Amino acid sequence: MAAAGALAYGFWPRLDGYRDTLERQRRVLSADPTLLDLIRMSTLAANGHNTQPWKFHVDEAVITILPDLSRRTAVVDPDDHHLFVSLGCATENLVIATGVHGRPGDVSVESGAEPGIAIAIGNGPRRDDPLYETIPHRQSTRSAYDGLPVVPDDIRLLESAAQQDGVSVLIFTEPAQCDAISEFVVAGNTAQMQDPAFVSELREWLRYSPARAVSTGDGLFAPCSGNPVVPEWIGPLLFKAFFTQDAENRKYRDHIRSSAGIAVFIGDRADPQHWINVGRSFERFALQGTALGIRTAHINQPIEVSAIRTEFARWLGMPDARPDLVVRFGRAPSLPMSLRRPVETVIV
Ligand SMILES: Cc1cc2nc3c(=O)[nH]c(=O)nc-3n(C[C@H](O)[C@H](O)[C@H](O)COP(=O)(O)O)c2cc1C
Repeated sequence: MAAAGALAYGFWPRLDGYRDTLERQRRVLSADPTLLDLIRMSTLAANGHNTQPWKFHVDEAVITILPDLSRRTAVVDPDDHHLFVSLGCATENLVIATGVHGRPGDVSVESGAEPGIAIAIGNGPRRDDPLYETIPHRQSTRSAYDGLPVVPDDIRLLESAAQQDGVSVLIFTEPAQCDAISEFVVAGNTAQMQDPAFVSELREWLRYSPARAVSTGDGLFAPCSGNPVVPEWIGPLLFKAFFTQDAENRKYRDHIRSSAGIAVFIGDRADPQHWINVGRSFERFALQGTALGIRTAHINQPIEVSAIRTEFARWLGMPDARPDLVVRFGRAPSLPMSLRRPVETVIV
């Protein structure tokens, strides 16, 4: 399926409804945006399977981001780890956008089983933040990259953007290290592809036609992964024919070999507060990458399969840690951007 990537561009002229929706959702904010406008920026954040597992509650000058547990992915994410990382990504976008517009956000994470993230919106001077303008342009770019290194100065900028309390980011650029991580990705991918529950959950979030992607406003639209647009009824047939263990493992090895490096994000503890901070750290890393023309894509398989995660932590030299995200980076042309649900529908 990945080989069909180039076709995605050829199909763009047929995506008019998709394009209009995309442009509406990603338009820049006016100088004096409403809280709803700022929340739209928040929803452009990275999030697992593009389920958008969030709800926003606005009470005077406090925006609370709440988990939407009806959008859990119980197979790939049984403890809601990805879900809280995704809420962290949305938090970071919101805080960047409010700061730029002179409405600085003060973040506190509520306690409890389903903690919300309360962001008290204050008043202050408008703040320049070069990451702000990149919010509508950041994307997960699941294609082969150009195979060239990223210069050390840019790697330092990525590391510095990702600094966050309670989060470590390890960067690997040596080919031998990346090859070793590639084998963990392949082991994780093999386990997932042999698990019918994983495949079935993934299929629920695939969108093959622009019409379906626009009508749900969520999920993984084929061209965003470098695959062609097809009628919705043909998609499952193609999926069955091309989504094979060998083809996917080959694709991941090739994609990692084409990347400049791999970043691993690790929270100091395995709890929602730390997962949210991991999300904030990753989102800043990805936005800084976008500012530098550096793309990112998740290769989380080593941390999604718990037995492999333990071995991966040992390989990292951190046997007691829970690695949270694995992300490759490098340079490549963009792929089509993903959609979001209309912002009005995520307000509760
Ligand atoms: C916690 C988390 C886990 C993710 N896991 C994966 C993954 O395993 N594979 C993948 O291709 N993308 C993964 N992604 C990327 C999402 O699929 C992507 O953010 C979403 O589809 C929205 O697309 P965008 O990032 O281009 O806006 C993950 C993102 C987050 C925040």
